[in-house]
Amino acid sequence: MLPLSTDGAFREIKSYVLRAGRSTAAQERAYAALSEKFILPFTPDPINFSAVFGNTRPVTAEIGFGMGIATAIIAGANPGKNYLGIEVHRPGIGRLLWEIERRSLTNIRIIEHDAVEVFARMIPNGSLEGIHIFFPDPWPKKRHHKRRLIKRPFTETLAQKLKDGAYLYMVTDWEDYALWALAELCATSGLSNTYQDFAPPQSWRPETKFERKGLAKNHVVRELLFTTKDM
Ligand SMILES: C[S@@+](CC[C@H](N)C(=O)[O-])C[C@H]1O[C@@H](n2cnc3c(N)ncnc32)[C@H](O)[C@@H]1O
Repeated sequence: MLPLSTDGAFREIKSYVLRAGRSTAAQERAYAALSEKFILPFTPDPINFSAVFGNTRPVTAEIGFGMGIATAIIAGANPGKNYLGIEVHRPGIGRLLWEIERRSLTNIRIIEHDAVEVFARMIPNGSLEGIHIFFPDPWPKKRHHKRRLIKRPFTETLAQKLKDGAYLYMVTDWEDYALWALAELCATSGLSNTYQDFAPPQSWRPETKFERKGLAKNHVVRELLFTTKDM
């Protein structure tokens, strides 16, 4: 189901508030020099992944990569796979572009736009090998829960975009959001939990900036790993 309101407009309640943080000079330079090569414009039409990446290797999408260091490490460790990072925070996009250049990565593309709209419009059904969502904004106050990204019907849309046997991997350090997401994902048709409840830590996932912040506050990190199920 598309996250459209009855008048066809995209929903106004966003899962993010654009942060005021300024880009560093290095991030600005990387953005100016590399955006044309690595940033895909938002369009209302489905992406042709083989045309965009120049190959037919499997594609994993990441929502909200923040500064993108984990994205760059994962892409660098998996040159036989493609990665699509979706983020709205300009300094973070500049930082990932800087990492792409520094590590000579060719298997990442970025979309600077609301992931909810990107998934509704641009990601073809059954096209992704994986979806990564690391430390999504927790929106801990009850009146803000409606802003949480991991909820139906968006999780139904995410499931539709995965290939058979593909996975959705979410990690959070907010216990209340972890339990919320577990319930939402379990109730999502087309997804099946790989574990009884939370998954064990996946050793290949690099630590992220927001993970470090959570651990400094003694938060427990919860991992959720779901795969597509036969309907
Ligand atoms: C709490 S930060 C986590 C960043 C990073 N994954 C980490 O672990 O350090 C959440 C990020 O998700 C991004 N975000 C939230 N909602 C989004 C959306 N609908 N589309 C794209 N990015 C989004 C925010 O801009 C922010 O950078």
